[in-house]
Amino acid sequence: MAHEIKDDIYWVGVNDRRNDLFESYWPIPNGMSYNSYLIKDEKSALIDGVKGGFTEDFLRKVQPHGAVEDLDYVIVNHMEPDHTGVFPELRRLNSGLTFVGTEKASELLENFYGITQGVEVVETNDTLDLGSHTLEFVETPFVHWPETMMTYLREEEVLFSGDGFGTYGTLDGGLFDDQLGAEKYFDEAVRYLSNIVGAYSATLQGALAKLKRLNIEIIAPTHGPIWRDSPDKIVELYDKYSSGGALPGVTIVHGSMYGFTKKVTERVAQGARSTGLQDLKVLDASRTHPSYLLSAAWKRRGLIVGSPTYESRAFPPISNFLEITEKKKLKDRIAGIFGSYGWGGGSAREIEETAETLDWDLVSSPVEFNGQPSEDQLKNGFELGRQVAEAIKN
Ligand code: FEO
Repeated sequence: MAHEIKDDIYWVGVNDRRNDLFESYWPIPNGMSYNSYLIKDEKSALIDGVKGGFTEDFLRKVQPHGAVEDLDYVIVNHMEPDHTGVFPELRRLNSGLTFVGTEKASELLENFYGITQGVEVVETNDTLDLGSHTLEFVETPFVHWPETMMTYLREEEVLFSGDGFGTYGTLDGGLFDDQLGAEKYFDEAVRYLSNIVGAYSATLQGALAKLKRLNIEIIAPTHGPIWRDSPDKIVELYDKYSSGGALPGVTIVHGSMYGFTKKVTERVAQGARSTGLQDLKVLDASRTHPSYLLSAAWKRRGLIVGSPTYESRAFPPISNFLEITEKKKLKDRIAGIFGSYGWGGGSAREIEETAETLDWDLVSSPVEFNGQPSEDQLKNGFELGRQVAEAIKN
C-alpha cells in the first residue's frame, strides 16, 4: 500500500491484528492501528511512534525513507505507550535524536524510559522549522493524558491530532477515509471516544475551541483512518459526543441471575417502545463487555438500569458497569432504575448512588420487587420505560 500522505509526508504506522484488547481491557475485534508519521525535509521529524512489540514492523516502514540514525526529531504528541513503546529503540539507534513535547511529556519521558537528554519542551504557538515545513504546537491537555498536544503542519494544513479524532479498527489496504469507507468507522469511533477520551469531554471541547482558528485540510490521528475527504465529519462526531449531544434513544442495561429481573426488562422495553421510540437497545451486562455497554449508553440520552441484589448491592456485572460510567463520567442521562431482591434489597440503592454522582435525571423512584415480579410490578416496569422514552421526546 502506498504510504505517502502528501509530498514528503509518510505514514509509518502499524496495524495491530494480534491483540484482542486495547489497554488490556477494551475489545478490538477489528484490530487497531498505531499511526506514526514521517516528514522528510532538511530536518526530518517523526510524529509519534508505535507500541512496543511492533518495533520491527515500524522500522521496516521507516527504512525506505531514510535511516533512523539520520532522524532529527521525534514529536511527542502523547506519551501513552501505544505511541511511545518504540522510543527506547529509537534512542538506542540514534543518540542525537531530539524528542519534542510538552513539559509534562518530558517528565513522562524520564519516568517511562529514562530519557532525559535531547528533550525539547514546547508550548502552544511554539513552532519548529524543518526547512520547507513548519510545525506548530497546540497543547491539548487531557486528550487523552495531561501531557497531550497536537501538531499542525502549516504549509500543508495537516493536523496530527494524537488520540483526538481516532477510532478503533485497522487500516485495511489504505490510509484515508475515502479509501476505507468513513461510515464503517463511525460506530467504532463513538465506542473509542466513550472508552478512551470521553471522560475528558470538557477538555476535548476546549481543544476543539483552540483548533477553530486553524485551516485543517487533513486530520491525521494516531488511531484509525486519516481524514482527508471528510475531516469535518469526524470533528462533528467528536464535538457531538463530547458535548452531551446524545441521540433521542434509550439504552436498557440489565443483569438477571434467574430471570426475575429479566421479566421486568421485557416490560420496560415494551413501555419505551409504546411511545413510538425507534432507537432502543437492550443489553445484558453478563454477556456484554463494559466497552459496549458504555458506548451504547454514551450514544443515547435515555438510560435504564436493572439489577438483582447481590450481597446487598447490585449484581457484579451491573456494579462493574456503574463503576465504568463513573470513571468515564457518563453524565446527564434521563434515567430509570429497576431491581429485584430476595430479602434485604440494595441493588437499586447502588444504582441510585451512581445516578446522583453523575447527575442522571430519574423519572421516578426505582421499581423494586421481591422475587417474582407481580402483575402490578410488571406494569410499573412498563410505566418506567414509557416515562423515560416520553421524557426524551419532550
Ligand atoms: Fe492512543 Fe492514549 O493512546
